[in-house]
Amino acid sequence: MAIVYDEAEKVFLLNTQNTTYAIAITDETFLCHLYYGKKIQDSHIRYLLKEDESPYVPSVNKRETNSFLDMFPMEYPETGMGDYRESAFCVRNVEGHRASQCGYRHHVIKNGKPEISGLPATFASDEECSTLYLYCEDEVLQLQLCLMYSVFEKEDIITRSVTAENYGKQPLYIEKILSACLDVEDRNFEWVSLHGTWARERHIQAMPIAVGRQNVASFKGESSHQEHPFIALATKGATQDVGEIYAMHFVYSGNFLAQIEKNAFHMLRMTMGIHPEGFTWKLEPGGCFATPEVVMTYSAEGYGKMTHNLHELYRRHLIRSAYLHKDRPILINNWEATYFEFDEKKLLDIAKQAARLGIEMFVLDDGWFGKRNKDDSSLGDWNVNLEKIPGGLHKLSQELKALGLKFGIWMEPEMISPDSELYRKHPDWAIQIPGRDITQSRAQYVLDLSRQEIVDYVYEQIAKILHSAEISYLKWDMNRQLTTIGSMGLVADRQGELFHRYVLGVYQLQERLIREFPDLLLENCSGGGARFDPGMLYYSPQIWCSDDTDAIERLAIQEGTAMLYPLSCIGAHVSVCPNHAVGRVTPLETRGHVAMAGTFGYELDVTKLSEEEKEEIHKQIVCYHRYKELIREGDYIRLLSMQKGDRADAWMVVDKLKNRALVWCVRGLNIPNDKGFFLRLKGLDVESKYHIDEKQYSADVLMNCGIRIKPADKDFVSNIFYLERQTK
Ligand code: DGJ
Repeated sequence: MAIVYDEAEKVFLLNTQNTTYAIAITDETFLCHLYYGKKIQDSHIRYLLKEDESPYVPSVNKRETNSFLDMFPMEYPETGMGDYRESAFCVRNVEGHRASQCGYRHHVIKNGKPEISGLPATFASDEECSTLYLYCEDEVLQLQLCLMYSVFEKEDIITRSVTAENYGKQPLYIEKILSACLDVEDRNFEWVSLHGTWARERHIQAMPIAVGRQNVASFKGESSHQEHPFIALATKGATQDVGEIYAMHFVYSGNFLAQIEKNAFHMLRMTMGIHPEGFTWKLEPGGCFATPEVVMTYSAEGYGKMTHNLHELYRRHLIRSAYLHKDRPILINNWEATYFEFDEKKLLDIAKQAARLGIEMFVLDDGWFGKRNKDDSSLGDWNVNLEKIPGGLHKLSQELKALGLKFGIWMEPEMISPDSELYRKHPDWAIQIPGRDITQSRAQYVLDLSRQEIVDYVYEQIAKILHSAEISYLKWDMNRQLTTIGSMGLVADRQGELFHRYVLGVYQLQERLIREFPDLLLENCSGGGARFDPGMLYYSPQIWCSDDTDAIERLAIQEGTAMLYPLSCIGAHVSVCPNHAVGRVTPLETRGHVAMAGTFGYELDVTKLSEEEKEEIHKQIVCYHRYKELIREGDYIRLLSMQKGDRADAWMVVDKLKNRALVWCVRGLNIPNDKGFFLRLKGLDVESKYHIDEKQYSADVLMNCGIRIKPADKDFVSNIFYLERQTK
């Protein structure tokens, strides 16, 4: 049984294959967190509440000492009733008071996984998951909270979300509603997050935990380049295989707060949810608000197990696309090849050469519509530019088809250029505060997707384009953050809803899109990887990882990304050298190897290749076809990390039956007088032997002695090794 309630003890145990999460109810009806960690069988753990140690328990101490205020492990702490650490919930009533105390009233345990209306969320059958609903009430406010915990036994994951319902007669104003809180005693943890900026997304950082609050956050209206909606507590020095990790990952694409707080009594509080800054939600009588979901996992076996749990969850229970287990076409995108300077002839020249090389799809990026010859106009005017493409999209798609290529297209549906027909007609459609200049970013404004009529209009535009030609793929871009936060469609006491309503508008658009075009391959993108988050994965099976296509910078970006996401989600392309983002020159072979650890494609002018380069690309394509299924479906294992001081970056994928494996090793730095080294593998079947090229090795030898990495004779050398188990 995944969820057990011990009535006598008033203790819930939420059990996965390897972990237990425990909650208790106190006599005062507080819900408190008892335990999260390795699996335990026994629910007699109320002693963890220190009930004998007066005055810790509220019913004894009457909350007169700070033991309660600073120590009591609240399951879902609320503002205003005497817990001075970060609260998860704050509500204001019409009198202006900010306090609530929702006590436990009853619970329900059900098989299956509930949907969260309008939001992306994990899904599962009744056999795969069960859910605990804890109903709590504040009778003064006439407010009900429901804390939901869905237990994915196989994946060692618990997902959490909260609903708030106003059953009173007056409106309530929610000022903060986080999705999860976890109190843990400090056991020499550090905290881990992903950080970056444009062209440098999702680098891993581990930091000591100071007394006080430390967090990562976004106020940008998107999950952002800079911070990622992920945090973990990890025992100091944790490795891929050793150490305890508590991780939270947010299934949401807007503003977020992910925080660790340490107090003077060595208590850590980990919280995650929609960022309260700029957020207020008016809850009318009878109204209900549902938070996005937090994915939570515990690993007693280092980062590797955390990664594995998340990858399994996302592949089995979050990504819905029909492409999840299908081959994705090897594409060529014209962005880095042409930017805005192209005409039909140029596109077809690239396409012809691409087809000869074995590329399977041509993607037309920015600049094909309105009068957009640079990035300062036409967003919102989704009419093909007939000067550039005289025959229109349909003819182009047919010409590509004749070459044996599928056709994909770029759009940025959420935006409006000040210089556009759409803006001239509907200036109030941009997000804005009357009387203030609207901030431009990349010379564009953001459409107010909190308004249903604008969502409907945008959807019609997208659908019109997709129906106008044979289009197999859509790259959905989003190139700026939200500023000057105001909606011409919301009344004063609802302006604080704009950020969240915007995200709901984006989700509604993508939901409608994938329903009407189930065969469309959707790739999300946001100026590179500013909206690479689990929320977007619910709609698109792959996300453009970064505008930095330099293979060496990509090592760090893809390492951080693959720590949380399967390789099949990571958009990765081979581009030209010197690289447009960093100016580095990297062997074409290495560029191919790195892009193969993702959804493989090209983004360069293939009409300008030398014969030698064409041959290399042809080789890469053959190689990718050979291994694409293994890369997409296999278990990812990180072996070495230059970010963490190793001499190379290395990782591998192993199929579920441990019959086949692919190993990558890339050295980004030219080590003078290099003598090579032995790379120790993982995840193979210890009893078996494996072939690498013509040679045969025992798995225990490969895992303990390692495979030989020869001395690097030039800069940025890379190798991939294919292993096949010897059949008995
Ligand atoms: C940002 C994307 O990340 C790029 O790949 C490209 O599509 C440009 N936008 C186009 O404007």
